[in-house]
Amino acid sequence: MADAQPFDSRDGVIWFDGAFVPWSDAKVHVLTHGLHYASGVFEGERAYGGVIFKMREHNQRLIESARLLGFEIPFTVEQIDRACVETLARQGFEDAYVRPIAWRGSEMMGVAAQQNTIHLAIAVWQWPSYFDPAQRLKGIRVDLAEWRRPDPRTAPSRAKATGLYMICTLSKHAAEQKGYADALMLDWRGQVAECTGANVFFVKDGALHTPTPDCFLDGITRRTVIDLARKRGVEVIERAIMPEELAGFEQCFICGTAAEVTPVSEIAQWRFTVGDLTKALMEDYEATVRPAAKAEVAAA
Ligand SMILES: Cc1ncc(COP(=O)(O)O)c(C=O)c1O
Repeated sequence: MADAQPFDSRDGVIWFDGAFVPWSDAKVHVLTHGLHYASGVFEGERAYGGVIFKMREHNQRLIESARLLGFEIPFTVEQIDRACVETLARQGFEDAYVRPIAWRGSEMMGVAAQQNTIHLAIAVWQWPSYFDPAQRLKGIRVDLAEWRRPDPRTAPSRAKATGLYMICTLSKHAAEQKGYADALMLDWRGQVAECTGANVFFVKDGALHTPTPDCFLDGITRRTVIDLARKRGVEVIERAIMPEELAGFEQCFICGTAAEVTPVSEIAQWRFTVGDLTKALMEDYEATVRPAAKAEVAAA
């Protein structure tokens, strides 16, 4: 689904290296290390009712992702938090998506970039639903990707690094060309891993099953959903899941900051129902992100 307005010419401001610049002026040079060698890390955060859900965790992960790529963001987590809050306020949105991104600059051009300065930008826009809302309620259709999540000895898989999204874009484009909404990627061993922007869960006999995040992002939403399920007394089993097992699962959903909790009706040849536990966790997630936001606003 293409947005009507291109992302390089929108209204408002972007926080760029410590100052606000008009949205259309937030530019980098073509000889930027981050563009050529994927030396970039980013976050995806959501604000509900004017408050960014689990902002500190996201911004700490941003700093950690940079550390895993061998660079240090020249701002503290407190400064990044404040910048996210200020950007949200300047944009004037209550419900919005927040995108901090850090990258290596232009001082050196080549694989080595030891002297390059590190930049940080934060943009905020409205992104109501990651998937088509009607499809979302019925459960989205997901294909099985040809590309696999790499061995952690091949890539820093715990980092939310721009380069790792090359695999996601290839997989998502291939799925969309076949009419699917997303793709489920296996990992280098052939085990079920994650979707292109979300983690995956399955339901069987009242229990939740989800892959152990040992070579892909252990999502903040994933951990929130695990806590919510356990609060309901639901057993959560983190383990290696092989694709053949998908035939035996009754329900499936994916979750992530952008995707929130989204039911899945099919993955390649396997079918799932949008069942009670999936619906209950969608509601629990909504209730967790919303009232907390309101309470914090009231207390501020
Ligand atoms: C590849 C991938 N996996 C998982 C997730 C879920 O992470 P989180 O819940 O922290 O947003 C994301 C979300 O950005 C993602 O891009």
